[in-house]
Amino acid sequence: MEWKPEQIRLAVAQQLKTDSLLGIQDVPMHIEAPSMSRATAAQPAADPLEDSGRTEQLQILNRTSVVGCTKCGLASTRTQTVFGQGSSAPRLVFVGEAPGYEEDKKGLAFVGKAGQKLTDMIVAMGLTREDVFICNVLKCRPPNNRDPSAEEILACRPYLQQQLQILQPEVVVALGAPAAKTLLNTAQGIGKLRGRFHDLYLSGTEGVGPSIPAMPTYHPAYLLRNPAEKRKAWDDLQMVMALLGLERPG
Ligand code: URA
Ligand code: SF4
Repeated sequence: MEWKPEQIRLAVAQQLKTDSLLGIQDVPMHIEAPSMSRATAAQPAADPLEDSGRTEQLQILNRTSVVGCTKCGLASTRTQTVFGQGSSAPRLVFVGEAPGYEEDKKGLAFVGKAGQKLTDMIVAMGLTREDVFICNVLKCRPPNNRDPSAEEILACRPYLQQQLQILQPEVVVALGAPAAKTLLNTAQGIGKLRGRFHDLYLSGTEGVGPSIPAMPTYHPAYLLRNPAEKRKAWDDLQMVMALLGLERPG
């Protein structure tokens, strides 16, 4: 099988990001080219019409509901709402907590330091940010990045549920406790929840309608502060890769 330069470039990037994710300094001399099966994640949607339908549905949700939303107090302190971005036919969706300073300024999810770490995690999985969809539980920044309140989460979560209903991913990764607790309707901490798949109900109500698997893991900002936990996060991501049939690097 012939390896295209782009495939080799992706394989090298994946290996390097995996090493940096795990804090490994030595770069292996030989890097296996990726198997073709991995390319399935980057393939265009089976039905392009379906894909553009989802793009339009997402735009409608954003423009008619989120952009001008005043359902909670954060409307008065935000610079702008942050809907989230990425593929509109993703196999995998990442859900974080809330926009921070950079996100509030740019209107995009995960574009600051934590975002760079999330990019490393995505590339280590053999994917790109464009393959996946990235968003948050809250669409507006809490002042000084304080924790989201229960009222804010309650007001905003219908938007997240609608995003997931439109996107129909095969699996969701919940980054950190607020995302995991919101999506899985549980009070358990992230340390207890991580390491296994849970049922995420697209309706938002436990046991009602279809569910998809969700993997809770540590938030990239937490990994920046606690690098010793990176191994566990990588174990979680490898379970997601196995579910999606993505190959491990190297
Ligand atoms: N942290 C989050 O949870 N979301 C972002 O978009 C950025 C940082
Ligand atoms: Fe609306 Fe959510 Fe922003 Fe609150 S955080 S104003 S509910 S979009």
